[in-house]
Amino acid sequence: MTNMAGSSAHEESLPVHLRGNYAPVKEEVTAFDLPLRGAIPPSLRGRYVRNGPNPKTGQSPHWFMGDGMLHGVELRDGRAAWYRNRWVRTRAFLEDARSVSAEGEVDLAVGVANTHVVAHAGRIFALVESSFPTEVTRELKTVGSFDFAGRLTTAMTAHPKICPRTGELHFFGYSFKPPFLIYHRADSAGRLVQSEVIDVPGPTMIHDFAITDRHVVFMDLPIVFDLELAMTGTMPYRWSDDYGARVGIVPRGGANGDVRWHEVAPCYVFHPLNAYEGEDGAVVMDVVRYPELWRGGSSAAVNPPALHRWRVDVRVGRVSEQALDDRAVEFPRCDERRVGLAHRYGYAVYTENGADRSTGTALIKYDLHSGSAATHECGQGRLPSEPVFVPASAEAGEDEGWVLAYVYDASRDGSDLVILDAARFDGPPVATIALPQRVPFGFHGSWIPDPE
Ligand SMILES: [Fe+2]
Repeated sequence: MTNMAGSSAHEESLPVHLRGNYAPVKEEVTAFDLPLRGAIPPSLRGRYVRNGPNPKTGQSPHWFMGDGMLHGVELRDGRAAWYRNRWVRTRAFLEDARSVSAEGEVDLAVGVANTHVVAHAGRIFALVESSFPTEVTRELKTVGSFDFAGRLTTAMTAHPKICPRTGELHFFGYSFKPPFLIYHRADSAGRLVQSEVIDVPGPTMIHDFAITDRHVVFMDLPIVFDLELAMTGTMPYRWSDDYGARVGIVPRGGANGDVRWHEVAPCYVFHPLNAYEGEDGAVVMDVVRYPELWRGGSSAAVNPPALHRWRVDVRVGRVSEQALDDRAVEFPRCDERRVGLAHRYGYAVYTENGADRSTGTALIKYDLHSGSAATHECGQGRLPSEPVFVPASAEAGEDEGWVLAYVYDASRDGSDLVILDAARFDGPPVATIALPQRVPFGFHGSWIPDPE
């Protein structure tokens, strides 16, 4: 029996993360000069690449654990020049190597590289938070594991931050074994120039962080490592009622002794939208906040997350928290030129119930000056992935440009790359590019322009 989205009774017996458009695709496809409706802005010269889990065996114990697959579309001269999807050829993919042995030993050169793809200093990295980066080419070919010429000795977050003013790459690694958190800084040429152990009370899941133009902001939130869960082979983290929740502010380039920790109400944040220095001396940080997550483990139902603002008053050591919206959203992004600087606009996927993105058919553009939001409704059965903003030019205004997102169309079990005009966000797409196969729901991506 088959329903409208093409799923069978057999498929419905699978866990949610292997079903419908979460299911992995089986083929690596290359296609040129893709069909499209509308007109691709000629200023878009580069490629949009997005990462996500696509287990090569068709099986994985958790959505976060499948082999990484990149889906890319190159745009130039108003054409969609190519589409490619490629598994990241990690040692996990090629050799079935394990990043953590049965004895608990960690091999940082092994990882599924399934979470994000980020370009810095002439290299492109496929990233997962449990291992070194994996370098890939602009045509999505795997180069190999990358450890900053041997200087990196920890895993690397999938959410490094590039300072738009200095070109520095700020990032961190976390581990279930001490040291639990290490702050790293690479210069604009890609040389790792600083690594500092940051003391935290225990091993927590630290998925992302933020920078301002003066500070780095860490989140030490109560999703704690659980050895019993680790032994079962699934995500080894769960909610803790005891751990507490803190935000740590460090001067950029600072060390452990410089960290100022501030208590926040218990919650979890996978993704900040951005952070910046407020005019009143506070650090302002906009986050997609879950009131609770993973009680008992990562298979627990998810409470809907929503956009909140923290104001961290570093002088008096207090954090105030404000809900900016009550809609369930995820995958918040801002203009990359505003990373660490005051932002007016942000983009996110509207997930409706927060637990399953296949219920959300809209993207949201927040205007945080006016307190309003515009909605781009993708249409019935059309389910968008993370929106990525691309400025129309280097000098363009903050919402003068394009928003790119893959959109899954359940009615044809296929996917499009949709290009929206950021300034006319609720209008029809300026271009809709039909892809030769569906793009499974995944995580994060980047616009990687042609080299200058
Ligand atoms: Fe993420």
